[in-house]
Amino acid sequence: MQIQELVDLKPFNTMAVAAKARYFTTIKTQTDVQEALAWATEHGVEPFVLGGGANLLITTEVLDRLVMRMAIEGLEVVGETDEVTYVKVGAGEDWHATVDRLITMGYAGLENLALIPGTVGASVVQNIGAYGTEVAQRVQEIEVFNPATDEVEAMRAQECDFAYRHSIFKDATHADLVVLSVTFALPKVWTPNLSYKELANQVEGLETVTARDVFEAVVAVRSRKLPDPKVLGSAGSFFKNPVVDHDQFLALLEKFPSIVHYDVGGGHQKLAAGWMIDQAGLKGHREGDAGTYEKQALVLVNHGEATGAELWRYAQMVKATVNAKFGVVLEPEPVIL
Ligand code: EPU
Repeated sequence: MQIQELVDLKPFNTMAVAAKARYFTTIKTQTDVQEALAWATEHGVEPFVLGGGANLLITTEVLDRLVMRMAIEGLEVVGETDEVTYVKVGAGEDWHATVDRLITMGYAGLENLALIPGTVGASVVQNIGAYGTEVAQRVQEIEVFNPATDEVEAMRAQECDFAYRHSIFKDATHADLVVLSVTFALPKVWTPNLSYKELANQVEGLETVTARDVFEAVVAVRSRKLPDPKVLGSAGSFFKNPVVDHDQFLALLEKFPSIVHYDVGGGHQKLAAGWMIDQAGLKGHREGDAGTYEKQALVLVNHGEATGAELWRYAQMVKATVNAKFGVVLEPEPVIL
């Protein structure tokens, strides 16, 4: 295991923030994880596991941590039942490439999550979701390294406290667990999930819809609305879509009859944060190199040289503007360091 110092993290975070890692190492094996964590303890440095850096905003110039870039590889079929095939994938594998590869191998079920940047390990930490699917629905088991026991443990999906953009791995109490691999349960009998209207429109006219068709439709829809992080820095949606109770919703509906909302049960409504930011006049707005994407107001973008602190300040401005207009408090979706 090799520890580097003052490594530029710009290539390792999709917001393209030019922060430096005080210490940096690449993780290829479980042994690397153990050695890196031991090194961090010995040197009194807090470790930080970095996936694809696609859901991250680093607000400091130097991140005083040991950045462990997750690069554990591997993809293998590990079992099956009459209903599903189990495929185990290394935490460092690229998410989109994995979805693509699985479809080519004949395993469908993750196609609605195509083109989401990041790694397989991060997909479960964040419980990524799009177009009516969340990764949690396809997770069988997650292998983690637990520093407290110095052992590899297998966690069932039910133990992971999955919710909208949330898992147990985001809780402070479990944040030290390092995801090593994810085993997916992929259905043998597959039907497309076209509940999202834009997706259904995209495949209209096709006689039979295959997983590859849905994959390509998702790629097309996402490419229209979301910036390519290789071209324009972003972390996807910067805020979660807020959930409000019935009373607050009725009050909002009276004032803003066209407010975009989805019933999430229990009398609660999820509001489209992108719509609110747009209505507040901030779509395409820009302050220096920090701005809101011109095609999707929920996405914060780095037009080039914005620092993490500048992006964070811009996000606070967006949050305050939405709060002033709608009385709704937005919570950031990415991890803020
Ligand atoms: N809208 C506007 N103006 C905007 C942006 C959105 O009016 O500038 C409206 C849209 O017209 C639509 C509604 O707001 O009626 C929702 O927009 P959209 O369908 O683009 O989805 P979203 O709620 O903004 C969520 C996820 C995305 C995911 C899409 C599709 C969150 C925080 N975001 O976005 O996930 O791809 O749905 O399922 O839940 C991500 O997490 O990084 C991400 C991109």
